[in-house]
Amino acid sequence: MSEQKLSGEVYYPSFEHLGEPHVRERGELQREAENDYEGFWARHAEELDWFEPWEKVLDDSQAPFYKWFTGAKTNIVYNCVDRHVLTPRRNKLALIWEGEDGEFRSLSYFALKREVCKFANILKSLGVEKGDRVTLYMGRIPELVLGMLACARIGAIHSVVYGGFSVEALHERLEDSQSKVLIVADGAYQRGKIVPLKDIADEALQRAATVQSVLVVKRTGQEVNMEQGRDLWFHDLMMLPIATSQCNLEVMDAEDPLFMLYTSGTTGKPKAILHTHGGYMVGTYTTLKYVFDMQDQDRYWCAADPGWITGHSYIVYGPLLNGATSFMYEGAPTYPYPNRWWQMVERYGITILYTAPTAIRGLMRFGDAWAERHDLSTLRLLGSVGEPINPEAWKWYHRVIGRERCPIMDTWWQTETGMFMITPIPSDPLKPGSGGKPFPGLQMDIVNEEGKPVGADEEGYLIIKTPWPAMLRTIYGDPDRYVEQYWKRFEGMYMTGDSARRDADGYYWVIGRVDDVIKVSGYRLGTAEIESALVSHPAVSEAAAIGLPHDVKGNVIHAFVILKTGVEVHEHFEDELKRHVGHEMGPIAKPQAIEFVDSLPKTRSGKIMRRVLRARALGEDPGNLATLED
Ligand code: PRX
Repeated sequence: MSEQKLSGEVYYPSFEHLGEPHVRERGELQREAENDYEGFWARHAEELDWFEPWEKVLDDSQAPFYKWFTGAKTNIVYNCVDRHVLTPRRNKLALIWEGEDGEFRSLSYFALKREVCKFANILKSLGVEKGDRVTLYMGRIPELVLGMLACARIGAIHSVVYGGFSVEALHERLEDSQSKVLIVADGAYQRGKIVPLKDIADEALQRAATVQSVLVVKRTGQEVNMEQGRDLWFHDLMMLPIATSQCNLEVMDAEDPLFMLYTSGTTGKPKAILHTHGGYMVGTYTTLKYVFDMQDQDRYWCAADPGWITGHSYIVYGPLLNGATSFMYEGAPTYPYPNRWWQMVERYGITILYTAPTAIRGLMRFGDAWAERHDLSTLRLLGSVGEPINPEAWKWYHRVIGRERCPIMDTWWQTETGMFMITPIPSDPLKPGSGGKPFPGLQMDIVNEEGKPVGADEEGYLIIKTPWPAMLRTIYGDPDRYVEQYWKRFEGMYMTGDSARRDADGYYWVIGRVDDVIKVSGYRLGTAEIESALVSHPAVSEAAAIGLPHDVKGNVIHAFVILKTGVEVHEHFEDELKRHVGHEMGPIAKPQAIEFVDSLPKTRSGKIMRRVLRARALGEDPGNLATLED
């Protein structure tokens, strides 16, 4: 327990409940990482298996194209699966899954290896080779995890598209990645209804030319169109002799790509963030080990979607690297009743729960009783990610779910960082609403417009000064944009795109995005994508999207639209446009409100002044309008 005096509201850890964590005090890791940063990461890399050792831990000779563990050979799947099968963990559950309809499946490490090998052999039979891209578009079902691991096993690069995205979003990602194979489910259950994923994919495929084969996983069972010569049922192939349970593992260079994941940026199309086998593996393994204090007896549940980075790093790779039991739930938190989550915590004896503030606020609305009727005594650690957590939600989570004994790990990170960056560890004193300090060894700072550090409690740009193993290597197919986007604004520093302040105790308080990225229910969306979905409607001439604060979702989308001349707006036109955005981008991108306007406020260089739009939507004073063109 820490002796230091901290300002503000502070929650101190209790070792009585925590047990014996990997480290009893942050300083142990901090000192080691500060004394020898590369040695610190090398020590953790040595806890994993490599086919050949590295020559260099960090190669910064071509910064900002950093390389980690150069010369080393490995495969992340060997460390996630194969090596556990050689130990008594072989019969331990790797994955437990519950469907929204109550279906249940579990896979031991042994079974996981068998299923991944069979899946990988099917991919090989479809001609997938090392370096090929494979897109996966499914709900939260075990085949998504198996598919990701199967790709990685044979050296293919997976690109998971979130099942909540729709036609144009999927098309764009298929096209940009030049995927050879698409793995899709017939549908996904969401609140008792079926999302027709295969139908959406069919429409996207009409616009995308590169896909040669479509592997269809049966989940919801409704009738779907199967195009001859292109579409194949996964379960049919699993019956064939090609689907054997032995599949050689591709030996990968540490720097070989593992996956790409699209995320929204300031302008234009979504960008594919590229992660590698070696560094990403070491980063996710180490951070999960300490931040959620992974112990062999844990039942860990990260309630995110594998379609986002949180799911990649901390449902799939991080837990399996740690030999943990990872739980995954398919559906909505409140289906059929608001106690669904707490029922599952009780049923499976979940010890660690990691979710997003928006989910906590959503469940909090239903009151305490839904959680109180369940035995949540197995929980020992809680986590939060995706957006700043307001202290009220933090305290509810701590009191009602954690029963005042479970520390909350508020982890700040990004698709780009691949791993936790600002985060407590369980023995740290916590302040509700703050993620605490950078993970040991990382140097981060808050700077002003000129890149100079700001003082305590002052707001500025959040930047990162040290390279880290799980960092993105580039934007797939666009290295210039990688440099431009992250490394140009402040020389030699990685720009996160967030604003933050740091208090006198060194605790970071992340405020939010400073660019045109909107976080809706923790999901990252770019204004440019929403605007282009609006403009793809034949009646729309111009559009602007902004985020407005919302109690549960954090932000909602508010859009301004200029119609083409001569277009008559009928009574339900706003709904029609919302539906159009939902169809093209996905339900999460639907604006909550659309205002029809005659012009948009722009600077002389033609950039939309969102600040003015935000003020108008909130009924506030827009402030200085000197740069306004019109
Ligand atoms: O604005 C920050 C916010 O989420 C952004 C990254 O979004 P994404 O790439 O989708 O990854 C989300 C999950 C890792 C960040 O730039 N963010 C993430 N975690 C937090 C957060 N904001 C405040 N507190 C957090 N714990």
